[in-house]
Amino acid sequence: MKYTSHLLISLSLVLIVSVSFYLKPKNLSKEEIIESKIDSVLSKMNVVEKIGQTSQRGTSSRSKTLSEDLKNAVRTGRVGSVINVMNTAFVDELQQIAVNESPNGIPLIFARDVIHGFKTIFPIPLGQAATWNPELVKNGARIAAIEASSKGIRWTFAPMLDISRDPRWGRIAESAGEDPYLTTVMGEAYTHGFQGSDLSDPTSIAACAKHLVGYGAAEGGRDYNTASMHDQSLHNTYLKPFKGVVDAGIATVMTSFNELNGVPASANNYIINETLKEDWSFNGFVVSDWNSISEMTTHGYSENTKEAALSAAKAGLDMEMTSTTYEDHLHSLIKEGRLKESELDDLVRNILRVKFKLGLFDNSDYKKNDNVFYKKEHLETAKNTAIESIVMLKNNERILPLKKNVKIALIGPMADAPLDQLGTWTFDGEKEHSVTPLRALRESMGDRVNYVQGLSYSRDESNENFSAAISAAESSEIIIFCAGEEAIISGEAHSRANIDLPGKQEALIKELAKTGKPIVLIIMAGRPITISNIVDDVDALLFAWHPGTMAGPAISDLLLGKVSPSGRLPVSFPKSVGQIPIYYNHKNTGRPPSKDSFIAIKDIPIGAWQSSLGNTSHYLDDGYEPLFPFGFGLSYSEVSYSNIKLSTDSIKLGESIKATVDVTNIGKFPIKEVIQLYMQDEFASITRPVKELLRFDKVDLQPGETKSIAFDINTEDLSFYNLNKVWVTEPGTFNIWVSRHAADGKAIRFSVYE
Ligand code: GLC
Repeated sequence: MKYTSHLLISLSLVLIVSVSFYLKPKNLSKEEIIESKIDSVLSKMNVVEKIGQTSQRGTSSRSKTLSEDLKNAVRTGRVGSVINVMNTAFVDELQQIAVNESPNGIPLIFARDVIHGFKTIFPIPLGQAATWNPELVKNGARIAAIEASSKGIRWTFAPMLDISRDPRWGRIAESAGEDPYLTTVMGEAYTHGFQGSDLSDPTSIAACAKHLVGYGAAEGGRDYNTASMHDQSLHNTYLKPFKGVVDAGIATVMTSFNELNGVPASANNYIINETLKEDWSFNGFVVSDWNSISEMTTHGYSENTKEAALSAAKAGLDMEMTSTTYEDHLHSLIKEGRLKESELDDLVRNILRVKFKLGLFDNSDYKKNDNVFYKKEHLETAKNTAIESIVMLKNNERILPLKKNVKIALIGPMADAPLDQLGTWTFDGEKEHSVTPLRALRESMGDRVNYVQGLSYSRDESNENFSAAISAAESSEIIIFCAGEEAIISGEAHSRANIDLPGKQEALIKELAKTGKPIVLIIMAGRPITISNIVDDVDALLFAWHPGTMAGPAISDLLLGKVSPSGRLPVSFPKSVGQIPIYYNHKNTGRPPSKDSFIAIKDIPIGAWQSSLGNTSHYLDDGYEPLFPFGFGLSYSEVSYSNIKLSTDSIKLGESIKATVDVTNIGKFPIKEVIQLYMQDEFASITRPVKELLRFDKVDLQPGETKSIAFDINTEDLSFYNLNKVWVTEPGTFNIWVSRHAADGKAIRFSVYE
């Protein structure tokens, strides 16, 4: 008996120990800890507070007061985020109300469009893409985050990842151009820069992939216009960059204004719930664009704002920006049983997850740390980014860099335009800190700069100052003409049907050309400009986009040869607006044009036989090639490409192939070269583009230096989204180009087999 009781006691002890071992909280992961915190906060919230988290209130950064209504809304837990509060005292006051007075003390997340810099302004994103230098772009985004977070901003609405093939669209300025791969690489760089290595670091800000999706495909390049495309185009082109940044850990996504194939993006269940959240396992949150939910009634999609709110919530749209359909209708939709409270919980959960990751619950105060603006290293990085963004498109007789002690006539509306050189989306940039080409060239060349504006702004139609400009030119050795677009005719809602240089700029350039003095044309604009009318009148051409705060020092260093241009085009330059859309990664068609099949309109014999011109896909007047192709750009030294080889001429599905090339600087200038690798899938179950950028590398090359560059390509890199709605690589023959730009190089063929 005694023995039995001892045995029972020891057995039960063993049982207790082993059970307690399993019951003790195991080491929870960071994610699990956050999820348990979300559950705990959510369990204390009532429906009104849950709806509050899904509401982002709009304010104006120019408002001098903080509305009582907004403060009360925060106090009662009816606000989750506020946009554009730029007065640090207001940010502090609102956050204290949220944390100390609202029912569950859930901190606000303050948001702002920090698109290409906060105070220190970097080149517009299209210019940053032209650097083909993701490390530089990441550093710029890091600096923007440091500056913005010092004002309490912890969420930016960038990077914009809309593939843009239509320079009439004002928002091409905000994009990374026409290519999915380059846009993906840039999007990842911005994401890592903004978010840093740890989102809870007070200098980190949540990034936002926008605008999901197809906004850049707006018909006619007219902003907010209809976008239609088949599924394969959607996945193989427009969604690719979004997938890239979701894999890179981006915290938020924004839906776009446009309808896509009949459904406005903010109610697009297929895009938001099915693709982004389910297929890609995105677990941040999705915000609408400004009023885009209420605009679904204007689209003619929702009968009223209540239906709009229901469609958006059901589609998985987590937070509503500025319109109030969620605040107005979600509660009644839940009471009516048309929306489950658990569905609302899912939206709120995503928002709380990002707030926890940002560390807002642990530290909702922000640092009043104004002395981080315009730090020396910030300006240096901005200057280097501007330098690497500028693309030299022409340099006849190597007129650049300028000779020593040369006397220049500096002319044009953008030579001293401190605000316009910052470009679009620079709410917080300050022209007082903006260094123009005039100021920088005066500092470096002194009285050898003879400055006459000639036109007082880019759209100036007056020629009253032409004569002063012409006499300045006649008394100088060379003309530096700073042309372009004011910031206001670039960016959102600023599409242009004619994308020539505005105003009388072309006329003035033509007049100056009559002096016989060489002209260096520098264009600062938010889009490719059609320059066919004047490109032959100038001897050198630098396309500078809108280069930001340090435009002047960057341009001065390039003109004076302190550094060589190294930018490459992220977008094709059309000869005329009539060629648009024109982009390198187009389909071949059944009747592709070629040099020998195309007769220019001026060469067509009178009375030519109808079918004598060759029935191929081209324009009789402007042919089929852009003025300058994607990836193009010149440097102060030339580079030879040799020993371009593939490691094999056939690989099995799942294997890799290596492409190698030797690049040699055969000039006298140290330069940076952008080696580009393109591929073509020659035939497949759906037609594939004639070329697709797959890799690139930007390397320094000293005069005479040779570097061997290698690229590894796996058959997975050759995959595409097919008619069965899956990603596949089909066996067959492929071509690889290792080249200077999209229109350069010779194809090397290889095959892929099962
Ligand atoms: C704008 C833009 C969007 C921006 C948002 C907040 O209309 O479409 O890109 O982030 O509103 O300003």
